[in-house]
Amino acid sequence: MPILPILQYPDDRLHKVAKKVDSISGEVLKLISDMAETMYAAPGIGLAATQVDVHLQIIVIDVSETHNDLQVLINPELVYSEGENKYEEGCLSVPGIYDLVQRAEKIEIRALNAQGEKFALKAEGILSVCIQHEMDHLKGIVFVEHLSHLKQVRIRSKLKKRLRETF
Ligand code: NI
Repeated sequence: MPILPILQYPDDRLHKVAKKVDSISGEVLKLISDMAETMYAAPGIGLAATQVDVHLQIIVIDVSETHNDLQVLINPELVYSEGENKYEEGCLSVPGIYDLVQRAEKIEIRALNAQGEKFALKAEGILSVCIQHEMDHLKGIVFVEHLSHLKQVRIRSKLKKRLRETF
């Protein structure tokens, strides 16, 4: 199973809006398995299909310390949110950049699992942050876009400079 390349910010493809999955085909299951492997290898706690340049509403998450609690969210919908909280976030598509983002404290979502079954999930803390971060990716939003314009300009120039130094 291959590890998939992760799009790096700023890349316009990170701004594409993901479409709903209409059937959980073998191809979709293969993608989910590759996305999980890519996330664990990075290592990261969440990955949206958008980040591997597949524009379908699929998210993999594992916020456990033991890395054995994979959650697959297909076509996730936010049905409830409450409160607000700020956590320091990072992203596999924005390496080395961490900053505080304000989000809802508690959320409830509905989604399909990898077997195509509907489920509801209530989340708070790091899981809530992670789900909201990954659902943003499906809408074409990268976490740094919640930061001030000045910070975004600085982050873009820092990452572009790093890219130039790599190649
Ligand atoms: Ni991310």
